[in-house]
Amino acid sequence: MTYHMTFRGAVVPAEPGQSVGAALVAAGIRDWRSTRRGGRPRGLFCGIGVCFDCLITVDGVPDRRACLTPAADGLHLTDTPGDSASEDPALGGPPRKDPAREDPALGGPPRKDPAPEDPALGRGEMGGGHAPSA
Ligand code: FES
Repeated sequence: MTYHMTFRGAVVPAEPGQSVGAALVAAGIRDWRSTRRGGRPRGLFCGIGVCFDCLITVDGVPDRRACLTPAADGLHLTDTPGDSASEDPALGGPPRKDPAREDPALGGPPRKDPAPEDPALGRGEMGGGHAPSA
């Protein structure tokens, strides 16, 4: 049995067990979301529910991960705009990372080296990385 979903006015076929994202890609559709900054197209990236690049609106419910949403007969899929809740920390999305704040190479603070604080890692008062003597 083949399912039939709709997206941008077209019928998207899917097989039982397929994800919405897999069905879209199989139908030649590579993007269904745009980024807030720059409006760049997004679709499947990691394919395992980690990156949130594949957010899509399913039957009016926004921010569904297409890679984890099982295809089903009659689903109505629509693009998810870039200002979706999943991208906006003010609306419950993850906090934004500012690379300049985190990367010493970009002016951020130096990374903390756990080794000087942990004698088990072999750095004592000499700081030379020698293993502690017995
Ligand atoms: S493709 Fe990464 S979460 Fe769906």
